[in-house]
Amino acid sequence: MGSRGRPGRDGVEDLRLDEVVDAQRLGCEAAGSPLYATVLDAVVDDVVTDGPSRRLLSLCEGATFGDAIVLRYLAGVHELVLAGRAPELARHYPSVGGTPGPGLAATFLDTVAAHEDELGAAMGRPVQTNEPGRSVALLVGYLEAARPGLPLRVLEVGASAGLNLWFDRYRYDGTDLAVGPSHSALQFIDPYVGAPLAALGTPEVATRRGCDLAPIDPSTSSGRRRLRSHVWPDHADRRRRLEAAITVVRDLPALVDRADAVAWTERALAEPVPGVTTVVSHSIVLQYLPLPQRRRFVEVVEEAGGRATAEAPLAWLRTEPAGDRAETRITTWPGEQTSVLALSGFHGPPVTVLPR
Ligand SMILES: C[S@@+](CC[C@H](N)C(=O)[O-])C[C@H]1O[C@@H](n2cnc3c(N)ncnc32)[C@H](O)[C@@H]1O
Repeated sequence: MGSRGRPGRDGVEDLRLDEVVDAQRLGCEAAGSPLYATVLDAVVDDVVTDGPSRRLLSLCEGATFGDAIVLRYLAGVHELVLAGRAPELARHYPSVGGTPGPGLAATFLDTVAAHEDELGAAMGRPVQTNEPGRSVALLVGYLEAARPGLPLRVLEVGASAGLNLWFDRYRYDGTDLAVGPSHSALQFIDPYVGAPLAALGTPEVATRRGCDLAPIDPSTSSGRRRLRSHVWPDHADRRRRLEAAITVVRDLPALVDRADAVAWTERALAEPVPGVTTVVSHSIVLQYLPLPQRRRFVEVVEEAGGRATAEAPLAWLRTEPAGDRAETRITTWPGEQTSVLALSGFHGPPVTVLPR
């Protein structure tokens, strides 16, 4: 992060590090993590007084607000807890059976100080929150993309461990809604509010593939630990969803290529593919792409939209931040039509379906 007042990589004015931490504290509070709100309150002071937290966060030179470096730092500490390497802090973390209590913030900062070198490595890793709850929002778009009646060719950008590539292996149940296998380990019961969403059947997926700069392999214990480290320790529902999704994908093939979003999408969309609706999808990814790459990515999709035909249609489905919530949009070609389909929190349900 640069000094205050200079335009950052995104053209957005840089914040001071303590302001960045405080903004994340507010985000965690608003998203129902009193544990992280308490911890980050102390981290603000640690940054202001030039403690280890300042040194660690300063390692991400050139990062923007969208890089969410405070989440890298929190996940690094959580990974230590999950690995059994921070037993004092574990007493406060519900993810390993603890209960937040007096001394949480001080113990957190002691842990950071004791593991500063290792946490330095965590600061170099991208945020890897692979949130199966986002499949609830994405499903609204997949159902829309399936309307022409063709099977789907799903291309997910920034897919992490690929958990949302398997959206059709999870169960969504509600009034007039029955999508996915009824026996799925991951069940979303009445996940929608707002306009009625009717679907009695699962969109057919012909092929699916994803890319990520740093794919996670959920079949390894280190991969699973990395995924768990990004679920906030006091978010029990998210933890249950992640564990259920891991169970679902356990015996399914790995589908995520190690590749950059722009080059991979350019290759995948080079030629229209007849007989399927190609769906380029992503959730909470664009903010991690530097602005020129973000612009190029949009160009690549729109250029491919220009080549789409009724026999080889294209849909661009995205669940991305819009202010303090996530918005699910779809653009379909030929004929370029964009609709906002749903609003949700950043981690998924409840998802508000918008009237069409
Ligand atoms: C916050 S995670 C979201 C993961 C997943 N889309 C989800 O919603 O559960 C962002 C992902 O984007 C990936 N990513 C960031 N920049 C990327 C790039 N230039 N190309 C491909 N993937 C990228 C990160 O590695 C990370 O897995």
